[in-house]
Amino acid sequence: MCGIIGYTGYSEARGILLKGLKTLEYRGYDSAGIAVFHPNFNEVLVTKCEGRVEKLMEKAGDVKGTSGIGHTRWATHGGVCDANSHPHKFGNVTLVHNGIIENYAAIANQLGIANKLRSQTDSEVVAALIDNYYDGDPKAAIINAVKELSGTFGLGIMFDDIPNELFAVRNVSPIICCKNEDGCYIASDIMAIGEYSEDYFVLPEFSIAHITRDNIEVSDFNGNIIEPKMLTLDWDIKNSGKKDYPFYMEKEIMEQPDVITKTIESRINNGLPDFTAENVDDSIFTECDNITVIACGTAMHAGLIGKHIIEKTCGVPVTVNMASEYMYNDPIINEKTLVICVSQSGETIDTLEALKYARRRGARSLSIVNVKGSTIARESENVIYTNAGPEIAVASTKAYTTQVAVFYLICAKMAYLRGRLDEAQTAHFMAELQKIPAAVQSILNRRDEIHHLSNSLLTAEHAFMIGRGLDYPSLLEASLKLKEISYIHSEAFASGELKHGTIALITDQTPVIALLTQEKLMSKQVSNIREVQSRGADVITFIRKSLVNKDVECSFDLPDLEDDFMAVPAVVAMQLLAYYVSSDKGLDVDKPRNLAKVVTVE
Ligand code: M6R
Repeated sequence: MCGIIGYTGYSEARGILLKGLKTLEYRGYDSAGIAVFHPNFNEVLVTKCEGRVEKLMEKAGDVKGTSGIGHTRWATHGGVCDANSHPHKFGNVTLVHNGIIENYAAIANQLGIANKLRSQTDSEVVAALIDNYYDGDPKAAIINAVKELSGTFGLGIMFDDIPNELFAVRNVSPIICCKNEDGCYIASDIMAIGEYSEDYFVLPEFSIAHITRDNIEVSDFNGNIIEPKMLTLDWDIKNSGKKDYPFYMEKEIMEQPDVITKTIESRINNGLPDFTAENVDDSIFTECDNITVIACGTAMHAGLIGKHIIEKTCGVPVTVNMASEYMYNDPIINEKTLVICVSQSGETIDTLEALKYARRRGARSLSIVNVKGSTIARESENVIYTNAGPEIAVASTKAYTTQVAVFYLICAKMAYLRGRLDEAQTAHFMAELQKIPAAVQSILNRRDEIHHLSNSLLTAEHAFMIGRGLDYPSLLEASLKLKEISYIHSEAFASGELKHGTIALITDQTPVIALLTQEKLMSKQVSNIREVQSRGADVITFIRKSLVNKDVECSFDLPDLEDDFMAVPAVVAMQLLAYYVSSDKGLDVDKPRNLAKVVTVE
């Protein structure tokens, strides 16, 4: 949450900072700002405003200077207004902050600065604290200040009397650094600076980066120089634009056959699942007797699909936990527990903290992550990357389907190693998995039909989704997609549960979306559809082609795969449904209100 960028070098900073902020806008878009060292005035000047980066671009037209920091905000402390936007300047110190400082009020009290603060933010207090310690030694001031902070922070810092130099420090919230012949760069996210160099590093926690035009020097809090581990970017960031699509979400939906193929095919050897390339030891799959999936939102829904297929195929019990609740519920963990964390960004703080908690208690760990080198990937004993490429739209689509694809791979591997599937059965499972990209493509080819169906939802205030078995977790994801981008209140129910209360809400004003992909549950689901129709609901049905029959009208037939593999095509159809409702309502599909792509606050 919140995007940070910094640059010092030989070019004008304004364009680099604003371009970076535009890229980072998906981390938060309440307000934006930049601070640049002005060569004529000999001080750091701040330009900032509430609203999107476009507004800042208009305001920052004549900013001059070759070093600066920038920020795009997702509000935590203090409302959305110019004063609360970053950067914050206090005395000699100007900074941008990502994270939350929990003891900021006590620090402000102790410094006696209440009447000098211009914002309600925790971040301005950090600037004041560093300024309070500053007596010409920037690193000492920063170290002394951050030792007093409780909470999380990624900070980009400038001093009025140190032209063309930046400093960065972090706890939990990431800071990425890179350089080229034109200068040195920092950012909260590789997406913002990846175009300047393929080689980058993640600033280690509780170390300081001193960034000059030609070099980035990292030292620990005792002054010892550190050589951070260099990483290489393997995403094609230069080609990660929207192309001809009106929104990233549509582009990312359309990319799914390709990225699912990439996720699966590199992990098949002689028809069997193979994690040799990622050094995942077989023992992780054979020695556990229980699995705990930890994730948030869409990633957690991927975990629910994983639970369904792993329990059924491998006979290993799986619990799926909301990361934000996990460690407060006295979870049962032992050395036979395999924790699987799922995260697109690899930075979601709730998931990260839950992972650390489980590892401290002896669990083995495996993470399914999209962003290479992200914190969750680094904190986990084993990582399987999803190969989805950059996902920019806040609503997750290709990250979800590739996470599910990895769960199928894990399931096949585990079932094979544990003797639950023999070689021929495992090869059959993998062959069915390999059919998913084509099935998804066939839905994408018919997206106009789904667009047409979406018209009936445009004026709805509430919608319900019903399904049984594997269709229920698929609908939890479908419902999240619809509500987050179209602002229609939507709820998914296991169809049989509806009549235990919620059916009271069904009227002729509440459209119901019904999913029917599970053969053995077909007749019961048809009865549940009848029940809501009897209460006046209009029902849109998505039915697996071979299950279509005269008992129920089919609105859209889904391509045929075996029951357990229907989760991906079903959700892709629902992604399109949500997308068309949102875009036809004229909403900002990629940046829904109140949301941010990367959730780095608890
Ligand atoms: O980066 P993560 O996968 O850890 O993010 C977790 C959730 O915030 C995320 O899946 C969220 O629910 C989706 N962006 C919603 O579409």
